[in-house]
Amino acid sequence: MFCLYLLFLIHLGDMKERKIYTKIMVCSYEDLNEDEKKTIDLAKVASQDAYAPYSNFKVGAAVLLGNGEFITGNNQENAAYPSGLCAERTALFYAKSQYPQQKVLHIAITAFYEEHFTKQAISPCGACRQVLLEYENLQVSPIKILLYGEKEILIVEKAKDLLPLHFGEDSFLDSSKDSNILK
Ligand code: THU
Repeated sequence: MFCLYLLFLIHLGDMKERKIYTKIMVCSYEDLNEDEKKTIDLAKVASQDAYAPYSNFKVGAAVLLGNGEFITGNNQENAAYPSGLCAERTALFYAKSQYPQQKVLHIAITAFYEEHFTKQAISPCGACRQVLLEYENLQVSPIKILLYGEKEILIVEKAKDLLPLHFGEDSFLDSSKDSNILK
C-alpha cells in the first residue's frame, strides 16, 4: 500500500503545468473604427431576421471581406434542433461560397433576447470557432472577432485565440514532429 502511494507521488512529480494565455481587448462602440462600427450595426440588423422560434435567442453576425463587401447572417433553427445553424456559420458559409477568394477581415456577433441586445458580449460556440479557424488557416491571416454586448465589446485578435489546443490542418502532420499545440 505504502509503495503504491509512493509511486503515485513520484508520478505526480513528473507533471508539468503549461498555461495558455488569450488576449482579449475590452472596449466601447466609440473606440472602434468605422468599418468595425458598421459591421456591428449590420450584425444587429441581421439579428432581427433570425429564425429562432425555439430559443427566442436571435443572433446576428456580419463579416467584412477583403474586397470591402459586408455579408450578414443569423441563426436558423429547426424543429429537429441539431438541423439548425448558428448566425456565424450562416454568414461565413455564405461569404465563402460567394467569394471563395476573399479573405475574412473580421466578424461581428450580436444577440437579441427578450427585447434587448444582450448586456454581455456573446461568444461563438465551439463549432463556429472551428469554422473560423479553418478559414483563418486557409487565408494565412487573422480573422478579428468583435463580440458585441451593450455594456462592453470584446475584441479577439484571431480565431486561434478562441480555440486553445485546436485541431487544425497542421494536426495531420507526422506525430513524430513537434506538436502544433502549446507553442
Ligand atoms: N447561436 C448562434 O447563432 N451563435 C452563437 O454563437 C451561439 C448560439 C444560436 C444557436 C441557437 O439557434 C440559439 O443561438 C440558442 O443557442
